[in-house]
Amino acid sequence: MKIPVITIDGPSGSGKGTISQRLARQLGWHYLDSGALYRLLACAAQRDGVTLDDVDGLVALASRIHAEFRTDATGDESVLLDGVSVTTELRTEQAGSAASQIAALPPVRAALLDWQRRYRQPPGLVADGRDMGTVVFPDATTKIFLTASLEERARRRYNQLINMKKKVSLEAVMAEVRARDERDRSRSVAPLVPAADAQLLDNSALDIEETVARVLEHARSLT
Ligand code: C5P
Repeated sequence: MKIPVITIDGPSGSGKGTISQRLARQLGWHYLDSGALYRLLACAAQRDGVTLDDVDGLVALASRIHAEFRTDATGDESVLLDGVSVTTELRTEQAGSAASQIAALPPVRAALLDWQRRYRQPPGLVADGRDMGTVVFPDATTKIFLTASLEERARRRYNQLINMKKKVSLEAVMAEVRARDERDRSRSVAPLVPAADAQLLDNSALDIEETVARVLEHARSLT
């Protein structure tokens, strides 16, 4: 029998990560943070001196690196790249921006396909990203495209950064979120678009619990 997959795609700051993790925990399913794989590759490139336009170097690196995601009893996540923690580095704007640059390269995306598909394990998978429903898991059982207004997404990201004690302005964060959206939407390969069979969900005015409930409601309506 096909292993069920719920895909949650959408722009940065739409709350995909939080919603997907909650869903996976509630259902007892596996969780794939596909953005983290692009971020990890970007961090590894920086570590090894591979430039972000060196397609062959990046593809070779993708097959070499080993990533490990750990969640402790309190729910805190740590990420190891070849045994070394990159948890903090991975979540910086710099890593996000580098990830978005390499994500525009078709051979890099192809190199990450199998890696992502290996996360599809019983009893099920919640996959979060930009092209989960369109490219990586086109046969997913439930597809959600999660959005929120640019202002709301920038505000959420700003609050996250402030909580991490970063010195940033809301204007700068909004400009960065806008630039990343633009790059993700306009790239020629796997652009950020909803799958034809995805359910659109704008959560600008919903909190986390309400959003999770809507997704589960939709998933149940399909079974
Ligand atoms: O989701 P996150 O912000 O961690 O992703 C970082 C970048 O990786 C995104 O801006 C996007 O360019 C890229 N990405 C992608 N496809 C995915 C996940 C992330 O292109 N499935």
